Amino acid sequence: MKEFHINTEIFFGERALDRLTQLPYKNVMLISDPFVVKSGMIKLLTSRLDSAMIQYELFTDIVPDPPIEKVIAGVSVALKLHAPCLVAVGGGSAIDTAKAIRKFANQLEKDYFPHLIAIPTTSGTGSEVTCFAVLSDPEKGRKYPLASEDLIPDEAILDEELVKSVPASVTADTGMDVLTHAIEAYVSTANNEFSGALAEKAVEISGQFLIRSYSSNEDTHARRKMHIASCLAGLAFNSASLGLNHGMAHQLGANFHIPHGRANAILLPHIIEYNSGVKPTNRSQKEYDPCVRKYCNLARILGVSNMNEVTTVRSLISYMHFLNSDMQIPSRVSEACPKLTEEEYMAAIDRMADAALADGCTATNPRVPTKEEVIAIFKKIW
Ligand SMILES: NC(=O)c1ccc[n+]([C@@H]2O[C@H](COP(=O)([O-])OP(=O)(O)OC[C@H]3O[C@@H](n4cnc5c(N)ncnc54)[C@H](O)[C@@H]3O)[C@@H](O)[C@H]2O)c1
Ligand SMILES: [Fe+2]
Repeated sequence: MKEFHINTEIFFGERALDRLTQLPYKNVMLISDPFVVKSGMIKLLTSRLDSAMIQYELFTDIVPDPPIEKVIAGVSVALKLHAPCLVAVGGGSAIDTAKAIRKFANQLEKDYFPHLIAIPTTSGTGSEVTCFAVLSDPEKGRKYPLASEDLIPDEAILDEELVKSVPASVTADTGMDVLTHAIEAYVSTANNEFSGALAEKAVEISGQFLIRSYSSNEDTHARRKMHIASCLAGLAFNSASLGLNHGMAHQLGANFHIPHGRANAILLPHIIEYNSGVKPTNRSQKEYDPCVRKYCNLARILGVSNMNEVTTVRSLISYMHFLNSDMQIPSRVSEACPKLTEEEYMAAIDRMADAALADGCTATNPRVPTKEEVIAIFKKIW
């Protein structure tokens, strides 16, 4: 038996933030990316809370790739405030922190499980609708994707006003995260018709609007579309999970602080090649792995399908390289981390390969990787 459900109520479109004026709470804990406060963007939220006479306390101790200590600090504030509602605003890091704060606060105090509203300010992780939260342990150089139903936010608010300020490089990284979510969910061993429909739409929108969104902060239409694509891809992988791309990207983030979406982008063409088994020298075959047909579907949606399976998968791979270079995303780790030496990187690969194989995302990859194969991909992207 299979199951598909969407647990999060989604508010989107123009003035979606007005939802904040309708909340049935007297006070909320606002868990915010510090950028949102520094830039003044927080006023878009607080002015609405003020108008509805809802009090708020701010918690802004959030950093990218949230470490466990920041969550612990948030849990003690949450248990002190005891607000009936947590409102998380920021990128995936702020939303994941809030999700983990609610879960751990509830573990310490069984009766406390506040309503959680997630308001993304990047169009990338889809964290506003997923049962995942990725925490890191900087000392061990590890990232831990937690997965459980009690991490899913109750509400998500998608308002494009909040993504106008995202700089081009973050738009590029997070946009490639969207594509990676959709593509990995689409070929995952846990894919189904529902996740497939969501992934196809996310890929279609990304193909049409990612470069436009990257090219101009003023292109509100493109940014609104990418904000929705991010959420659609989140719904897709919440149902079908991800794959080796994320399993390996988590290691690049944990060890070398490569931004999450950028790590995915560097890996994506190589993982499509590895999963499909379609190398540049391949000749047509009678039969292909089932994921080849799926990659061909996505190539068709992106308008890059070609004469046969081999040329179509190759053109999908080329398209991913094109997106990376067009949006000035580094194509290899040495470019992304100019201070990292080759010796340091190579010395970390064995450990990273073990961790990538143990990562929860890798379990649903369409091809079961060996340690040697993961090591070979890590070497290839240096
Ligand atoms: N929970 C999930 O399902 C899931 C899925 C994928 C990734 N993740 C995790 O999410 C994190 C990455 O999230 P992210 O890619 O959104 O980045 P992020 O939250 O780390 O933010 C990246 C940078 O962009 C800034 N920023 C955020 N909003 C902005 C805005 N509107 N304008 C200008 N700057 C802005 C932030 O301050 C930060 O410096 C990683 O830890 C990753 O592992 C979680
Ligand atoms: Fe991701």
